[in-house]
Amino acid sequence: MGLMGGWPDPALSSAIRTAEHDQADGTAVLLTDIAQLVTCDGPDDSPASALGIIEDAALIHQHGEIVWLGAASQAPPADHAISLGRRTITPGFVDSHTHLIFAGERSGEFAARMAGVPYDGGGIASTVAATRGADDGELSALLHTRLAQMWAQGTTTVEIKSGYGLDVETERRLVELASTVTHEVTYLGGHVVPAEFRDNRSEYVDLVAGEMLRACAPRARWIDVFCEPASPHAFDADEARTILLAGRSAGLLPRVHGNQLAHGPGVQLAVELGAASVDHCTYLSSADVDALVDSAETTVATLLPGVEFSTRSPYPDARGLLDAGVSIALATDCNPGTCYSNSMPFVIALAVREMRMTPAEALFAATRGAARALRRDNIGRIAVGLNAELAVLDAPSYVHLAYRPGVPIATTLMALAKD
Ligand code: NIG
Ligand code: FE
Repeated sequence: MGLMGGWPDPALSSAIRTAEHDQADGTAVLLTDIAQLVTCDGPDDSPASALGIIEDAALIHQHGEIVWLGAASQAPPADHAISLGRRTITPGFVDSHTHLIFAGERSGEFAARMAGVPYDGGGIASTVAATRGADDGELSALLHTRLAQMWAQGTTTVEIKSGYGLDVETERRLVELASTVTHEVTYLGGHVVPAEFRDNRSEYVDLVAGEMLRACAPRARWIDVFCEPASPHAFDADEARTILLAGRSAGLLPRVHGNQLAHGPGVQLAVELGAASVDHCTYLSSADVDALVDSAETTVATLLPGVEFSTRSPYPDARGLLDAGVSIALATDCNPGTCYSNSMPFVIALAVREMRMTPAEALFAATRGAARALRRDNIGRIAVGLNAELAVLDAPSYVHLAYRPGVPIATTLMALAKD
């Protein structure tokens, strides 16, 4: 016996497809029978109101822009009306930290780790070799497959880092390819010191802060460094500062990988430089937490629990950070070494189950919080005037994201409209 119906709902997909087709001439499309419209645009950031939920809601979009939202009973007429069948709509997820462009895979390293071998960043070298050896067509095909998987699971914005080239030409190619699919492109020449510079680190720092930066800056918005003295492959505070300051002078905005493997200088450096985000934040001193609280308006702590899951490491203290008043984002960190998952619903479930975030805090951090980590106010929330970048959940409540881990209930309006 074959399966009938199912999700994504074929009838809903076909209605949305027809409406999208008609949108070329400015047709207004009413999405109604929404059990919960989670706007993430509440009056303030307190847990009770941040999600800004409208129950029994409707929303109208036209030319891809939201033009009305509110109670379904108050909805004005529109050219097309589509019933969501008591499903939930949230902002599309904002994945503000990924390493999405790479060739090869490291399942052997993962299996070894599950048998007790610790992670120290050394495996990055094998991905660099595979990526340098792949041509643009291969890398583009891999990237597009991963992006399609993300759209299918509810993600509408993705940040993409370079960092598996580590020579001028390959880094330039990676940044260029990333810029064809997102505005949130991060130059990460300072990922690790490649093997050919192992005995001459300062020469590599000069390259990353000089010729490589000049080749990458025109197509990047951000600059990032893996500042982790506990790893022999990554960068110390002085090296990272040199690279980030050069990037800032070239017009890029800093972000930092830090405090992933051990206590270290990453958070303090990020705060010192006014970075938009410091990512990982697993090992923090009380001075680091204080610095993040003081800088909550500027610097977001981006937590990546898929990494702790996939490296079998202790999780960051999300509960403590939230209670202290730190600004938090959640992202996947999708990469072949520490987390080969690009699923934001998986990250939300981990954040709730393993890091003691409430389902509301986790959804907010995966949307509005992650938008803040990208200094964006026009994504991660649902409001009139913004693009209709929406996630659709086959569930009566957003809580199902964490309540039904591994069940593919989330997708995007974009994916539903696809043939
Ligand atoms: O964010 N920490 C450094 N970079 C990646 C891992 C990259 C890799 O192992 O390939 C991360 O975890
Ligand atoms: Fe990362």
